[in-house]
Amino acid sequence: MNSELLESRRLTSFRRRLFRWFASQQRDLPWRQNRDPYRIWVSEVMLQQTTVATVIPRFERFLTQFPTLSALANADEQEVLRSWEGLGYYRRARDLHRSAKLLVEQGGMLPDDPDVWRELPGVGRYILGAVLSQAFDRPMPIVEANTLRVLSRLFARRDDPTSTPMRKWLWEAAEALVPRKNAGTFNQAMMELGALVCMPSSPRCDECPVAADCGSFQAGLQNEIPAKAPRTVAEQVREVAVVVRDGSKALLVQRPATGRWARMWEFPHTTLEKKETLEHAARRLLTETLGIKATLGPEIMTIRHAVTRFRITMVCLDAQFRSGKIGDEHYLDARWLEPAEWASYPVSTPQRQLADELAKQSRQLRLF
Ligand code: ADE
Repeated sequence: MNSELLESRRLTSFRRRLFRWFASQQRDLPWRQNRDPYRIWVSEVMLQQTTVATVIPRFERFLTQFPTLSALANADEQEVLRSWEGLGYYRRARDLHRSAKLLVEQGGMLPDDPDVWRELPGVGRYILGAVLSQAFDRPMPIVEANTLRVLSRLFARRDDPTSTPMRKWLWEAAEALVPRKNAGTFNQAMMELGALVCMPSSPRCDECPVAADCGSFQAGLQNEIPAKAPRTVAEQVREVAVVVRDGSKALLVQRPATGRWARMWEFPHTTLEKKETLEHAARRLLTETLGIKATLGPEIMTIRHAVTRFRITMVCLDAQFRSGKIGDEHYLDARWLEPAEWASYPVSTPQRQLADELAKQSRQLRLF
């Protein structure tokens, strides 16, 4: 690590200034109300890939729906996925639910033993450190988007924080700084410093309680560090979704148990192959994937959305069911449902946009 900051008196002073700053400046966030490990666990799983502002209302809602570990364990996975809708990275919800079931089978306690946590699906080094330090004050480190910036700047490390050696270094640095007592508050304070002061661009070094310890600030490098990750090139993807209607009902299918949006529902959709036309892809979906006869109708809407590096344009087409039986090769289940029923089925964000538009159209139709 090779830094003066790690010298014991200096480190004690660093922590004291950080704690004092946190005590007066921290935001009032719902998962800071108490040390209930269940609340902290849920919040950290949500916060792993979603912003604080988005998480706040969703966290409250999730806890109203599933107030305890056993409530979550006893819930149906579909209900949990429906509650998670819009937060993305749905594997987090499936893992959280499966972990809750495993913990209830083992007696229903949220243990302070890292070895129990490590065995749970979705629990990596971050969740382990975040939950055990905040709920049980175990002196365990965390590295996440905010703290990796704070650590890189403190020690003036220019390396790409996503590289394997730099990730290893970041964990070592976090481990060296975390105190034996009040580790949870320390970790929260480091994240808060990253969120409120040590921001990605134009950090507020004049307000920073630890600027005197910061290698980057001392060298005037706070805007150069951490190194920006190389830009990923966005890839355009064309998709078609087909709303197959039979009377007032439309067809919803359940996606396979693996892959993106596993076990969630959708109006059948597919990705266009290179140079494939929209109509060709729609017919391929109807005939080959679903195994039914249907007549294609007009376009309902076009939805643009982004998933990781993909920029997706999904054209939604109407279709009238003619004949046939849905095969069970590509989907786990298929149901003909009224618009009022769609609301309880977990779907992806673009599919929810389509469902909402269709429900609105059907309500307007009924007015005439
Ligand atoms: N980001 C990840 N975990 C967080 C927490 N507990 N508070 C604020 N931001 C966070």
